[in-house]
Amino acid sequence: MQRAKKCATYLRKDTDDIPDQAYDRICRILKTLGGFQLHGYKNACIKRRISARIRSTGYASAMEYADFLLQSRSEPARLIKMLTIHVSKFFRNRDTFNKLRDEIFPRLFSGCLQEGRNQLKIQSIGCASGEEPYSLALILHNSFAHEMSQVKVSIRALDIDAEVLRVAAEAAYEVDRMDEAPVAITKRYFTFQDDKYRLVPEIRNMVTFHCQDMLRPEPLEECDLILCRNVLIYLERSHQEALLKRFAESLRAGGILVLGKTENLMGEVRDLYQTLCPVERIYRKK
Ligand SMILES: C[S@@+](CC[C@H](N)C(=O)[O-])C[C@H]1O[C@@H](n2cnc3c(N)ncnc32)[C@H](O)[C@@H]1O
Repeated sequence: MQRAKKCATYLRKDTDDIPDQAYDRICRILKTLGGFQLHGYKNACIKRRISARIRSTGYASAMEYADFLLQSRSEPARLIKMLTIHVSKFFRNRDTFNKLRDEIFPRLFSGCLQEGRNQLKIQSIGCASGEEPYSLALILHNSFAHEMSQVKVSIRALDIDAEVLRVAAEAAYEVDRMDEAPVAITKRYFTFQDDKYRLVPEIRNMVTFHCQDMLRPEPLEECDLILCRNVLIYLERSHQEALLKRFAESLRAGGILVLGKTENLMGEVRDLYQTLCPVERIYRKK
């Protein structure tokens, strides 16, 4: 009760404004205890979410919350979860997946065959609970069975949040995750049980999941197609640019990058890619 009162005062005086000293301390604690680098993310966005967490835990100031963060076993993971948004859906922005099915995959497969390669490597970066990489696997299985008998496809999906990756591995989804998925695909590849859509093992086995921070400077694996959608929007521009450069380094010549519908190439990075479809944010490495 006492704590709730203090919190109300904190809220009125200090809505989303966390003092620099407390903010720096929270950043250091998250880096040391959670291995999570906050610099790089948009400050205003991150501060707003930290403030929301401070309010819901009931601490009177950001410094008091930082003390709690340091002592609690579970709070660093909980805060990191709040700082990274995990909304996703199967076939989110369906037109993008149609474009991949009708133009991009045929182009990638024929490139592989012409160059005598028998491997096609795909990465989904910031994959949340698996809806995005599984949507790719569903398209491939449903429409490219013949090509996949000639070219081995791997789909590597990564996210910083271990908990969403556990959901991905389980592959059982609430109804709202399915509302953009084609009905025929849902019927063919999911069973509906205990109010959840469960993906068949055949598709689950096409994707490997990895807990990885994309902002760490290690090189990403070489690949033919990268989807990094609705992740860059949370980053400061300099980090967006650095990441888009790293994507270009890991894509093969002619490889494809797909961003989210509100994300863009910017600055010098634009010289590294040719725009294939501005509406769906699909780019080809030069
Ligand atoms: C809004 S979801 C996007 C999911 C999917 N790409 C889509 O468009 O539907 C953003 C995901 O990026 C992940 N993410 C945020 N920062 C990350 C980082 N530094 N490294 C890896 N994943 C990160 C979050 O954990 C979250 O699951």
